[in-house]
Amino acid sequence: MNILVTGGGGFIGSALCRIIARSGRHRAVNFDLMTYAANPLSNAELDGCDGYSFMRGDVRDAEALARAFDGCRPGGVIHLAAESHVDRSIDGPRAFLDTNIMGTYQLLQSAREYLDSGRAPDGFRLVHVSTDEVFGSLGPEGRFSETAPYDPSSPYSASKAAADHLARAWRRTYGVPTIVTNCSNNYGPRQFPEKLIPLVILNAVEELPLPVYGDGGNVRDWLYVEDHARALLAVLESGAVGESYNIGGGAELANIDVVLAICRLLDARRPRAGGGRHEDLAAFVPDRPGHDRRYAMDSRKITAELGWKPIEDFASGMAKTVDWYLGNPDWCGAVAADSYRRRLGKAKS
Ligand SMILES: NC(=O)c1ccc[n+]([C@@H]2O[C@H](COP(=O)([O-])OP(=O)(O)OC[C@H]3O[C@@H](n4cnc5c(N)ncnc54)[C@H](O)[C@@H]3O)[C@@H](O)[C@H]2O)c1
Repeated sequence: MNILVTGGGGFIGSALCRIIARSGRHRAVNFDLMTYAANPLSNAELDGCDGYSFMRGDVRDAEALARAFDGCRPGGVIHLAAESHVDRSIDGPRAFLDTNIMGTYQLLQSAREYLDSGRAPDGFRLVHVSTDEVFGSLGPEGRFSETAPYDPSSPYSASKAAADHLARAWRRTYGVPTIVTNCSNNYGPRQFPEKLIPLVILNAVEELPLPVYGDGGNVRDWLYVEDHARALLAVLESGAVGESYNIGGGAELANIDVVLAICRLLDARRPRAGGGRHEDLAAFVPDRPGHDRRYAMDSRKITAELGWKPIEDFASGMAKTVDWYLGNPDWCGAVAADSYRRRLGKAKS
């Protein structure tokens, strides 16, 4: 079947397009506005592949979505298009409300029209991709289950929470067959270097400071991006409509331990020219306002019901990630050429 992937030019979306295109079962139709967060090189290896095509478009644009639904007659949609960076949502929340809430609203309306037209294949469903951040912060113990109460802290997570509620409401009210997934922090190749892991790798290679928020003790449950992409395809193929699935990597680490792990890999692979250890570049910076202390996902439902579990552990996934950034200077250069200056934290006013 054709699968419409919104946001397929971004970090997770491009990994998903590769997995769909190479599945031999489906074709990925990437529908993406190609904002600053998308890199055309991320899908370059799929150019000319039968299992992949690209349509430039905005999820807030009803006509563009109607063309996409009519043009490719998808049997499923996986919705990833979003503004995704928490720091940017603190600097300027409006774009997050526009894209993440109104964009999801428009996609649901367009899916509804597509279903009403009778042109959707039997079994059509829409997977809405969300985050563990909608559940707020955990204490030192416990993990989020699918029934954890919503308690978002940032403009980003509040906008994602709103979109999750829309996806559920459109199923109950209009019968749009939606499924919601909530995943933990992803890492891996092709992530835009405003996020912690690629930022630390690229800064370390250039001998720049490695910024760490607050005391470095914020804990995230790290999920390798290809494991997540496999989970999303499994949910589209076999998940139950109306359900939600939590997806975590089972790899809880404090930010400072992530930074130290990257530094150790770089010490071995790319020793510093003047000697010394990369970890000496680490620099604590003022904490993000509203910074949740800890997230951790209970993924037992998706494992029990769909047979999914992560293949990579943190050591193997991080080694692949560091090697990919070291081996792909063209991709990294394309990001730098686009007037983006790496930063972590709020923009300086
Ligand atoms: N990266 C993570 O760790 C993580 C964790 C949990 C959930 N998520 C969710 O997964 C999804 C993908 O995340 P990502 O890290 O790949 O994000 P990303 O920022 O790398 O990519 C987002 C993509 O959406 C596209 N886009 C933005 N606005 C659009 C619009 N109006 N119309 C069409 N396309 C538009 C961008 O061009 C980009 O290609 C998001 O919904 C995000 O909230 C990500």
